[in-house]
Amino acid sequence: MTNKEIKIAYTEYASLDELSAQDRVLAEAAIEAVATSYAPYSNFNVGAAVRFNDGEIIKGSNQENAAYPSGMCAERTALFYASASRPGVPMNALAIAAAQNGELLKDPVTPCGACRQVMIQYQLKSGNPMEIMLIGAGRIWKFSNVESLLPFVFDSI
Ligand code: THU
Repeated sequence: MTNKEIKIAYTEYASLDELSAQDRVLAEAAIEAVATSYAPYSNFNVGAAVRFNDGEIIKGSNQENAAYPSGMCAERTALFYASASRPGVPMNALAIAAAQNGELLKDPVTPCGACRQVMIQYQLKSGNPMEIMLIGAGRIWKFSNVESLLPFVFDSI
């Protein structure tokens, strides 16, 4: 028997000012996208922004539905939109932000499991790591790839 351990490395930033210029633009795009959220049921507004390898950014937000499971998270809205609108262009980063009552959450918002599975798919499709930035008003967490958020990922078919 062998006990094993996984360590997850990530970087914490105290504010947007500490980010590189490129990451700051992406983080601000995710924050902007929060304003397009349609969340009349949860009142939990989420914005996401995807960066392509050529620097272009596409935004998405959560879209809710009276039939709850028919709604969609911000991350998947942005990733599906990105892949559908620029199918041949690889992506290399995704930023996520969330607000309640018009105020950005203090702590970084962490994506649901379904979104993590979709993120890894587009990382594989892209053929390069996809950085993940989780934005909070008080601190920002940056992961250098999707598997940091989804160890033992299912990708075997
Ligand atoms: N939501 C997201 O859009 N992304 C997340 O990472 C967490 C949850 C949405 C789904 C739903 O519209 C609302 O937030 C409450 O769960």
